[in-house]
Amino acid sequence: MKNILEAPFIKEMCETAENLYRHGWDERNGGNISYILDEAEVGKYLDVKDVKREIPMIFNAENLADKYFIVTGTGRYFKNVMAHPSENMGIVRVQKNGQKLDLLWGLENGILPTSELPSHFMTHISRLSVDLENKVVIHCHATHLLAMSFTHSLDARDFTRRLWQMCTECLVVFPDGVAVLPWIVPGTNEIGEATAESMKAHRLVIWPFHGVYGTGKDLDETYGLIETAEKAAEVYTYVQAQGGVKQAITDQNLKDLAAAFHVMPVPGYLD
Ligand code: 13P
Ligand code: ZN
Repeated sequence: MKNILEAPFIKEMCETAENLYRHGWDERNGGNISYILDEAEVGKYLDVKDVKREIPMIFNAENLADKYFIVTGTGRYFKNVMAHPSENMGIVRVQKNGQKLDLLWGLENGILPTSELPSHFMTHISRLSVDLENKVVIHCHATHLLAMSFTHSLDARDFTRRLWQMCTECLVVFPDGVAVLPWIVPGTNEIGEATAESMKAHRLVIWPFHGVYGTGKDLDETYGLIETAEKAAEVYTYVQAQGGVKQAITDQNLKDLAAAFHVMPVPGYLD
């Protein structure tokens, strides 16, 4: 059996948590990550029959039965993930009936998976229904997106257009735009269901006054997606601080960009 601390997926999770922390997007225990792993890959490092603990869930995850995930722990600080992976993350498998998880590694000292597991798992189910390559969900408290949710219209079309206009690359990176939810209590099935519904058509969902959810096929892509939207929100903050827009990327510019990069913007979002 190989040393699990040498596993590429552990290293990538540590690096991602570290980067999120260094950007200031995951203060204290803010943020969480879940990442679907291959059974064969996990099997190189762990005896997958050796269940350390069973963990009940508050919703039915039958659609993810037998899938393996590495997830961050609830109440754990991203600041500490790199130094102490097994105390801050865990590898779990969803039981056949979808009601419980088998803990195979980590989440030491009785720690539970992130309280946002309903939103993560429901999002995975949604994304897998439209994209078989989906593997990652990241939630973080991206500073400028969060700030923008206090000052900008929360209409998804307005919000998306503003981000697309703030940096030429944005439309290419997220032509599917961003969804914006109403404010809902975090950690609940209700916010999970609303997030997952939006995730059928988008890979980025804004939780106003809280943060953002992003999804993708690997950690780099998902991190990069959030980073790009967050950068646009940061530019928007500077633009506002510098006195507002004097000239801008036009809708025709955005249409030309979409044609050149062969991406399809959300229908009806460009005039
Ligand atoms: P957890 O510590 O349970 O992952 O929660 C952090 C968070 O960001 C809640 O939205
Ligand atoms: Zn949060």
